[in-house]
Amino acid sequence: MGLERTCVELGPRSYSVFVGEGLLGGIDELLGEGDWRRALVVTDDNVGPLYADTVTGSLRRAGLEVALNSIEPGENSKSMHEALELIELLATSGMTRVDLLVALGGGVVGDLAGFVASVYKRGMPFLQVPTTLMAQVDSSIGGKTGVNLDCGKNLVGTFHQPVAVISDVETLSTLSEREYRSGMAEVAKYSFLRPEMWPTPLAESAVSLKGVDKAQLAKVVNRCAAIKAEIVSGDECDTGLRAVLNYGHTLGHALEAATGYDGTYTHGEAVSIGMVYAGIVSEEIGSGPPGVADRHREVLASLGLPTTPRTPPGFDAVLDAMRHDKKNRDGITMVLIDRDNNPFVRAGLETGMLKCCYQRLVS
Ligand code: NAD
Ligand code: GLY
Repeated sequence: MGLERTCVELGPRSYSVFVGEGLLGGIDELLGEGDWRRALVVTDDNVGPLYADTVTGSLRRAGLEVALNSIEPGENSKSMHEALELIELLATSGMTRVDLLVALGGGVVGDLAGFVASVYKRGMPFLQVPTTLMAQVDSSIGGKTGVNLDCGKNLVGTFHQPVAVISDVETLSTLSEREYRSGMAEVAKYSFLRPEMWPTPLAESAVSLKGVDKAQLAKVVNRCAAIKAEIVSGDECDTGLRAVLNYGHTLGHALEAATGYDGTYTHGEAVSIGMVYAGIVSEEIGSGPPGVADRHREVLASLGLPTTPRTPPGFDAVLDAMRHDKKNRDGITMVLIDRDNNPFVRAGLETGMLKCCYQRLVS
């Protein structure tokens, strides 16, 4: 099996991110020694039927006693209610704080299971086995866990690093084109943040899932993992540098919130539009390289991603949602881009200017 390995350097909490083809059947070899005797694999009803047998088989070969629990797919499962059910299950089945929780699925399963692992008995080990492109390039790395409240997304959460991340790109072949493209928005984000690491245009390697070369895809996933690992290693708890990973997310999250997380936009689609907006704002305040928004549009459109809202919410609704962004200090705060394409955080952005930029985005 082809295998690439990146280390997230966090002292005693350091771990490896493995990326390759056909890794699910070899988890026993990749996992290495641990104190765990038992594992609970958490997955969802789409992913479980496809990959749970391979994963549980592999964990059993590592000598573990394995149980499986499947949740309903979708954002609604990222809830306190679901977290409590899982915690009860861990407790009633006698799992100890040295046993292993395994997250097999996309970002929803990873965020939920990671959160549960972080609070059960004040923290137990967990393994990330991400199966969406979004989760392989972003959510499985870095230890951000969480669930949603009725009044907002990711409002309850912890930092809890996994013991390892095992990203098998073969699992991506069963994704829908829409979910695949959604993950490509985060890939595009890394290419905007670190252009020097992308010698060939993204669109040449990975437009459609059907035509994509798996070895090439593994390289792309690994490159994103390496960029994220470097950023997380420098700022584990998101107090500075890590904020740049939120490029495009201020408007992105606002669009998701303003449409009630009803599926109008996947996370990646919303971030795609948000990156064009961040480009426009960068131009407007005079920091960005001229034409950056158009260049973002070109790349994102070539990946089949939206670059403007289909039915744009009014600016007041968007502004209201942007005001709830966790990054905010002294008014609206965004990640923008400077003349050398370096991202930076700017607080106190003026709402009149933000409105003009929104009009430019939707016109
Ligand atoms: P998801 O977990 O909802 O998965 C999308 C859909 O794909 C689901 O229906 C799922 O069942 C299905 N699926 C997953 N893998 C599949 C496969 N291999 N084959 C077929 N179907 C498959 O969505 P996502 O985009 O992976 O993650 C979104 C979540 O991640 C959001 O809740 C977001 O907040 C979170 N997130 C967290 C971080 C972080 O740093 N923790 C970063 C980015 C996003
Ligand atoms: N996805 C943003 C972060 O991990 O910080």
